[in-house]
Amino acid sequence: MKYTILPVFLFSFSFLALFGWGKQNDVIKAEEIVLADSLKEVSLCYETHVKPLIERSCAPCHTAHSAGGASLKDLAATIKNMDESIALIIKGKMPKGDKPKVSGAEVAVLKAWKEKGGKSCEQQ
Ligand code: HEC
Repeated sequence: MKYTILPVFLFSFSFLALFGWGKQNDVIKAEEIVLADSLKEVSLCYETHVKPLIERSCAPCHTAHSAGGASLKDLAATIKNMDESIALIIKGKMPKGDKPKVSGAEVAVLKAWKEKGGKSCEQQ
């Protein structure tokens, strides 16, 4: 009995080390990669695809206020803070509090929008 427990313990431990830790962030990235290519052909604009997401998950901390010095209150401010915002979302650090999380698919949309020049819907 004494000798059977140890291998079982070691096996579970290595399984955890390989597949358990750090899994959450990898999932968000995988979802993002699958979507990134398909979004290249889609037209994305601020009022339709970006603002509602910020109002759902980042307001009022970054709209009425500039928590941590970062404002997302309008298009210009959002473009300025987008790269840092994406980095924090992927790390699971934003949104704070009980605001709905941003999914990997939504991160892909934010990234694609910025890469296409961060346009407002009127500019299209
Ligand atoms: C409940 C309030 C709250 C919500 C909701 C929230 N944040 Fe924050 N955010 C903060 C606070 C407070 C800080 C200051 C730094 C810290 O405490 O980590 C911050 C810092 C930041 C920073 C700047 C980090 C720095 O130190 O320069 C960015 C960028 C940011 N948040 C993006 C976002 C995005 C994007 C969302 C929505 C997906 C979001 N936050 C949702 C409260 C919030």
